[in-house]
Amino acid sequence: MDVIIQSAGAGRAAQAVADFIAQALTDKPNLVLGLATGSTMESVYEQLVRKHQKEGLDFSRCRTFNLDEYVGLPAEDPCSYHDFMRQRLFDKVNIDPRNTHLPDGMASDLNAECARYERLIAASGGIDLQVLGIGLNGHIGFNEPSSAFESRTRVQLLSQVTLDQNAPFFPKPKRVPRTAITMGVGTILEARRCLLLAIGPEKANIVAQAIEGPLTRMVTASALQLHSSCTFVLDGPAAAQLQKSGSYQHGIPGQSARTSLLSPVGTQLSSSASPRASLRSSPDTP
Ligand code: F6R
Repeated sequence: MDVIIQSAGAGRAAQAVADFIAQALTDKPNLVLGLATGSTMESVYEQLVRKHQKEGLDFSRCRTFNLDEYVGLPAEDPCSYHDFMRQRLFDKVNIDPRNTHLPDGMASDLNAECARYERLIAASGGIDLQVLGIGLNGHIGFNEPSSAFESRTRVQLLSQVTLDQNAPFFPKPKRVPRTAITMGVGTILEARRCLLLAIGPEKANIVAQAIEGPLTRMVTASALQLHSSCTFVLDGPAAAQLQKSGSYQHGIPGQSARTSLLSPVGTQLSSSASPRASLRSSPDTP
């Protein structure tokens, strides 16, 4: 796992992630891109939209798979992740809507929908680059504490921490759905490359647990330690509780994060992460 600390600020950290996605898309126009929602991602998507408008970044052949969607919210609901993605990215770039995928939280058979989503990812050749945020309880996607590292796309009951974290995005906190469909930890670990962005002091403690703590199902982001090609991009406050911060890469203001800090895209996208062998030998894996 690589760790990059962008002390120049949250905007710079988000820019590093947007630069990396843009380069991956340029190198592989039919990139299979895994996407996240949440406040952390908003500035990443703003920058991707800017790159499309000002620099002609082309999404026409890109295929996307989002990590998760709430159960019980129609795609048209302004609180749904379908709507979040349309408003922040899809409606503002030249992506073909038919190439954008999120789980259907309104499916009559939710388990069948989860299986369909897994099949769709596999049929697309697997995810080349998975972008991630991290929840206050260490979740990736909606893989709440105690999720198995080998879990697949499924219906997940949301923890109280997550319900509280997401309540501000709903007009009435009581409207936050209690369940969501999420890619599993195992699904995420199969992406060829993972890129996690964390910003702000409230993430500092859980980021330190995910990077430097033990592998544990109680902090599902710690599973990323098993991935052969995963980078955490942090702003200074999110990195504040790392004990070994001297051994991580530090961003230089004004220098392109893509070229200076993140390892070359081409090699990463063609290599398979293949984390499952290490999963089997992990003593903490259920
Ligand atoms: C959302 C998702 C979540 C968020 C995480 C951080 O699709 O997968 O794991 O990335 O909850 O959310 P924010 O960025 O709002 O702090």
